[in-house]
Amino acid sequence: PLWLFLRVLPLFPMHFLLLSQIEDLGTPRSFSVDYRKDCFRKDGEEFRYISGSIHYSRIPRVYWKDRLIKMYMAGLNAIQTYIPWNYHEPSPGQYSFSGDRDLEYFLQLARDIGLLVILRPGPYICAEWDMGGLPAWLLNKKDIVLRSSDADYINEVDKWMGKLLPMIKPYLYQNGGPIITVQVENEYGSYFACDYNYLRHLTKLFRSHLGDEVVLFTTDGPGLGYLKCGSIQGLYATVDFGPGGNVSAAFDAQRYAEPHGPLVNSEFYTGWLDHWGSPHSVVSSAIVAKSLNEILAIGANVNLYMFIGGTNFAYWNGANSPYGAQPTSYDYDAPLSEAGDLTEKYFAIREVIKMYRKIPEGPIPPTTPKYAYGTVVMKKLQTISDALEKLSFSGPVKSMYPQTFIELNQVFGYVLYRTSLPVDCNTPTPLSSPLNGVHDRAYVSVDGVNVGILERNKVITVNVTGKAGSQLDVLVENMGRINYGKNINDFKGLVSNLTLGNNTLHDWIMYSLSIDEAVNQGLLDETTPTNAAQTAALSLPAFYAGSFIIPDGIPDLPQDTYIKLPQWRKGQVWINGFNVGRYWPTRGPQVTLFVPANILSTAAPNNVTVLELEEAPCSTEQCNVEFIATPILTTTVQSVCEMCRRRFKEDDFL
Ligand SMILES: *[C@@H]1O[C@H](CO)[C@@H](O)[C@H](O)[C@H]1NC(C)=O
Ligand SMILES: *[C@@H]1O[C@H](CO)[C@@H](O)[C@H](O)[C@H]1NC(C)=O
Ligand SMILES: *[C@@H]1O[C@H](CO)[C@@H](O)[C@H](O)[C@H]1NC(C)=O
Ligand SMILES: *[C@@H]1O[C@H](CO)[C@@H](O)[C@H](O)[C@H]1NC(C)=O
Ligand SMILES: *[C@@H]1O[C@H](CO)[C@@H](O)[C@H](O)[C@H]1NC(C)=O
Repeated sequence: PLWLFLRVLPLFPMHFLLLSQIEDLGTPRSFSVDYRKDCFRKDGEEFRYISGSIHYSRIPRVYWKDRLIKMYMAGLNAIQTYIPWNYHEPSPGQYSFSGDRDLEYFLQLARDIGLLVILRPGPYICAEWDMGGLPAWLLNKKDIVLRSSDADYINEVDKWMGKLLPMIKPYLYQNGGPIITVQVENEYGSYFACDYNYLRHLTKLFRSHLGDEVVLFTTDGPGLGYLKCGSIQGLYATVDFGPGGNVSAAFDAQRYAEPHGPLVNSEFYTGWLDHWGSPHSVVSSAIVAKSLNEILAIGANVNLYMFIGGTNFAYWNGANSPYGAQPTSYDYDAPLSEAGDLTEKYFAIREVIKMYRKIPEGPIPPTTPKYAYGTVVMKKLQTISDALEKLSFSGPVKSMYPQTFIELNQVFGYVLYRTSLPVDCNTPTPLSSPLNGVHDRAYVSVDGVNVGILERNKVITVNVTGKAGSQLDVLVENMGRINYGKNINDFKGLVSNLTLGNNTLHDWIMYSLSIDEAVNQGLLDETTPTNAAQTAALSLPAFYAGSFIIPDGIPDLPQDTYIKLPQWRKGQVWINGFNVGRYWPTRGPQVTLFVPANILSTAAPNNVTVLELEEAPCSTEQCNVEFIATPILTTTVQSVCEMCRRRFKEDDFL
């Protein structure tokens, strides 16, 4: 079978270049827009793409090939991917392009499998990704206007694109690579700034690095309101819209911006994103198939967003406004599940594509097997405050008023803010964030007893009691930066003052926590029981650890699995030091976390570390985590749809 053949195909850049040079001996490769015949032209021939979105940043590298081959076997002739700037430039001038970030390897795989690439390098990408892909360190300039002509923003964009685009250039179609089109910015018409000089600058910048030949395009909602600020001369305007609406009306909007040229839906939604606290999004295969058929029937180009969603490992999820964070899973109800499994939607889509294009013969790579490793007993390690010295690599910082994560030079995770009660609070006294400045959730304790949780937009006050001088700890969690709309300058930590009664709290000591590094270096110890009276409803944020062995004598282990944390409340999980993501089954809808086999070991016990922020189920009994073989993404939640991102209504159409 084809995919077995591909498995042994060497995938080195040298080989790739040779291959392309050999092919190039014939007609020169070209890709362009034909404004006369309203189509794309590839090597002179009329061409239409049927593409699917896959974000390499959400899939372990070892699975890229499997997912791409499944996409190829569905009948797609192209893929579309975003490049998240913050994934590749974690701090200014420090670039990362290896391992799971090996963009060039991803492009080579796509090409070798026979898929063209529609590249979306941003700089802003949205994507339900932390800060829409923009690096949080841009906020070092407090009042920066992101996605605009702001000189400091432009300066950083120029440097980043000066690194990225020359790397991309050899992979352009006309240079022998798979990239047929390159998107500039993303849904810019949905952003308040409407800065044409910014779009003009990006156009010039992309042209200067990539040349005049490559097709550059924009994507916006299918309404004049969006296209007005999102499209500009020199960039081919495309639209995005989901199933169930009036396809021809949506394309009428594109025709307003582009009277001639190919029709393109750059994001045809196969499913939808989730938020903590809202039900899991499900979109029926039937409605997806029906609208896809309508799009293909009129000869339009389409990209299915997502074809596979994947996972927001570690801290990479974004959030919408009013603040609602997205969970760890980015399953998206896409035709390939989070774990790459073939679904009914996959086959429904394949049947539709079959009516328009010859699809590859041969077997489809099967769904990867999952294994239920069973129950793992967890023992308690230190609390965050017990382990503070080990966790705070850079040492504490003192200041009169609280500083944000960025001021403390921290991007993700957790910061502990510590001060003391300025007055006796003999009766319950409100500890408040009057300006709603807890970004995003804070676990509050007085003298080592948890007194409650503050949460952005939801809980701005907890009552505390205690003597003057009692230690007040506020552990603040960054739950993911807003990725869409005008609030993307999303500072984290305590971004405004806390008050206690009528007093503004001051004289803070702040600990930036390097938890990932500490977990990786095995720095956390077992707890020494302090016998502190546990009368509080919640316990202190603390670490727990356990390990499990991959059983012998079963072929093909390790396999993928899902971790479930019964009766645990909210926190973060690492397996062998790899940050698997956030869990929050009490809020839902996601209950289990995807654990890819590549992080598991057969050579040594596998180490599970949990940071439970609220209350572990072990105060009275033994606590466990479980590894099971099927995902649970759909627990019932109270539907708080205030944060569901509104997209396009019929009124937005022409
Ligand atoms: C869809 O929109 C077109 C305008 O592009 C309109 O002519 C047609 O009647 C609409 N179809 C339906 C079913 O509303
Ligand atoms: C704080 O305590 C006061 C007085 O007991 C009570 O009225 C109020 O509801 C409490 N507030 C919160 C947020 O618990
Ligand atoms: C906190 O309050 C002080 C005194 O009113 C003020 O100077 C400072 O700007 C405030 N800090 C924040 C982050 O709001
Ligand atoms: C806060 O100040 C107001 C008026 O200045 C006073 O009435 C109130 O009792 C004070 N509250 C506390 C908790 O000290
Ligand atoms: C788990 O931790 C133990 C003890 O530190 C170590 O010996 C072992 O190699 C770790 N397992 C893996 C897979 O890293």
